[in-house]
Amino acid sequence: MAKLRLDVGPGPLRAEHDRLLRTALRRGETDPEGALAEGSLQGDYSERALAIAVDTWRRRMVHEHQSAAVFARLLPQLMAAAATLEHKTTVLRMAMDELRHASLCAGVVSLLGGEPEAEAELRTEPLPEHEDGDAVEACLRNVLFVGCLSETVSIALLTEERELTREPVIERVVAQLAADEVLHAKLGWSYLAATWPALSAEAKTRMGAYLPVAFRYLREKMHGAMPLGRARIEGALKDELEALGVMSSEEGRALFAATVEEVILPRLEDHGLPARDAWTAPD
Ligand SMILES: [Fe+2]
Ligand SMILES: [Fe+2]
Repeated sequence: MAKLRLDVGPGPLRAEHDRLLRTALRRGETDPEGALAEGSLQGDYSERALAIAVDTWRRRMVHEHQSAAVFARLLPQLMAAAATLEHKTTVLRMAMDELRHASLCAGVVSLLGGEPEAEAELRTEPLPEHEDGDAVEACLRNVLFVGCLSETVSIALLTEERELTREPVIERVVAQLAADEVLHAKLGWSYLAATWPALSAEAKTRMGAYLPVAFRYLREKMHGAMPLGRARIEGALKDELEALGVMSSEEGRALFAATVEEVILPRLEDHGLPARDAWTAPD
């Protein structure tokens, strides 16, 4: 474990970093970094609500930072799979988006009065190689997991949190995260549509067999990020947390399940993947 901070250093690349934010990574008219730099909290909150919100946004900061490595590691897999160029360029933009998300989450931690740093494992894990299939299958499995599953769920969670939050600066940050995750999900759905028709029948069957593994891991990851068991969050505290962009774990888990069932399963089934059986398969 080590200290994770998202500061931009004073060296000569700082101007290039700022230029990337203003140009390549830009969405909409105003940037959330500007809102964070000038903004402050509008409402009054209990110590307890602020502490939970700081903890949640800090965990998001660590998670977003790790996601950057996932997208960066997808590039060599897309290269090995002979993916068309837009997949390779876009996946690197996504890695940059995730670094930016981490720094935006750090900004929210500061806004909430917390120290924008976290104790975290800085070493990241390699992606699965899936050696039972060829390079396209291996790449598709990872892209499907990240884009069609993980990021598609993120869109639903962030869209709901955007509705709930009543702090304008946090709303601006959540809006940026949600808009970027739309693109990140699109990578998965676009690569699935691009590669699926040409896969052999055996490869399609292997893809179907991978799905229960993918859903099990997704559920574990999502439920890990939405822990139950601490004192139930209700009433005024729940209201305060929602204003700060933090949904309760119970609602997050319900929205996760609904998104899988109503959005993800039908889209995967449209390709002929046995997604519903995979989702309901016992662990
Ligand atoms: Fe993100
Ligand atoms: Fe993302």
